[in-house]
Amino acid sequence: MSKLETKSVTNPPIATISSLAAHVGDTVTLRGWLYNMRQSGKLLFPIFRDGTGTIQGIVPRAAVSEDVFERVKSLTQESSIIVTGSVRADSRAPSGFELDVADVEIVHLVPASDPFPISHKEHGTDFLMEHRHLWMRTPRQSAILRIRATIMRAAQEYFDSNGFVRTDPPILTPAACEGTSTLFELDYFGDPAFLTQSGQLYVEATALALGKVYSFGPTFRAEKSKTRRHLTEFWMIEPEVAFMDLEGDMQLAEAFLTHIVTRVLELHRADLKVIGRDIAKLEAVIAPAIGDTEPGAPGSAASSPNLGWSATIPRFPRLSYDEAHEMLDAAFKSGKLEAPHIYGDDLGSPDETYISSQFDKPVMIHRYPAATKAFYMQPDPADPTKALCVDVLAPEGYGEIIGGSQRVDSYDLLRARIEEHHLPLAAFEWYLDLRRYGSVPHSGFGMGIERAVAWICGLDHVRETIPFPRTLNRIYP
Ligand code: 4AD
Ligand code: MG
Repeated sequence: MSKLETKSVTNPPIATISSLAAHVGDTVTLRGWLYNMRQSGKLLFPIFRDGTGTIQGIVPRAAVSEDVFERVKSLTQESSIIVTGSVRADSRAPSGFELDVADVEIVHLVPASDPFPISHKEHGTDFLMEHRHLWMRTPRQSAILRIRATIMRAAQEYFDSNGFVRTDPPILTPAACEGTSTLFELDYFGDPAFLTQSGQLYVEATALALGKVYSFGPTFRAEKSKTRRHLTEFWMIEPEVAFMDLEGDMQLAEAFLTHIVTRVLELHRADLKVIGRDIAKLEAVIAPAIGDTEPGAPGSAASSPNLGWSATIPRFPRLSYDEAHEMLDAAFKSGKLEAPHIYGDDLGSPDETYISSQFDKPVMIHRYPAATKAFYMQPDPADPTKALCVDVLAPEGYGEIIGGSQRVDSYDLLRARIEEHHLPLAAFEWYLDLRRYGSVPHSGFGMGIERAVAWICGLDHVRETIPFPRTLNRIYP
């Protein structure tokens, strides 16, 4: 055996489970934890995880020393290990590979007397949430967090590569953005201050300075609601563009969502499989719609006249609020909805679920009654009782993922709106300045990352979409 070969056996390269395709036939070292183990006679089948994936190892008693066999056998769930073995492609293995284990070094052995709390049997949600810091080690939870990271990266990537400047707003604010009922109040050196509900008002200022901007950060809502869609702390990404109208806003939202889903499909097929996501449902989102003509291929850049960034041609269905109401009315009359939708009311959860279940792509609902929406929305000149706004509902009943609008650009109207909503004028003087000095039509939207993750991963509840969820009843761990 040459020196080189000796070296490669005693000092194999450190690899990660997700990169094993490049190491088939090689001996590698993996660093991670024991996820599970099965024994069948004189064979041990440990399953290792390292944060990038899981792989099954094979340890035949006859192929390794007594010592190595006993050491593997002694491993308890979540003991940390450094394992050396050779990588074999195996089409039956979920990951596509198996590891013929040569040696295992134990870094920390979890004592059998105090085992890892999350075993392989079913646990209740409360128990899992109480152990969130450990629960996230399980393959499904890890896969969700990896996809979350890609969604956040793809979201930023879309704006960064289309000429937007990232401008992050403050988290401590003197006033409400989205209504006063869901503010977290705190004591700011003797004065009241609030955790931000949205960066919007601030990105309106930066948009008038820089043209196309976005913000990305945590936002807070003291929601007293215990729904599957509400967190008290969540991450929002918010573009804002000067000289853009509602039509541009809708095109932007569509191109942005298409980019995100495309990226997740490119990078996370294995993770989506671990989660049990129906991938065809995501493929349908970015597929050309029936009747699309060239250049309607997914991701094609049909440049929109006044936008200045690549946008896909419109493929997401659009419904005005009035059309949505008619659809809900018909559904109620034919017994498909339990409660009628009252014209003029916002859409309830069952309403959103019904509408989105009628389409295989996100649905854009625009022009809601102004009275149901925020003070800063521009009225529709064709019917001033309606706001130039859009909510994007995810398919399959996942509800609203994006809320956006064109903003009031007239000083007088905005001032009147602030007064009608009994908001403290003094706190909004700076915001009114944006209409005093070179006001322009401008629009933007906000997407909640957790809602997007819940939809893309196909999760019932947003609590699994963020490392440490904050809800009405939970602030631990
Ligand atoms: O529709 P919202 O309230 O809109 C705004 O805050 C605007 N100021 C955004 C803008 O135009 N720049 O919230 C936007 C999105 C929702 O569509 C949803 O995805 C998410 O933020 N969201 C929540 N996500 C989790 N938990 C909550 N309690 C949420 N509230 C809103
Ligand atoms: Mg909304």
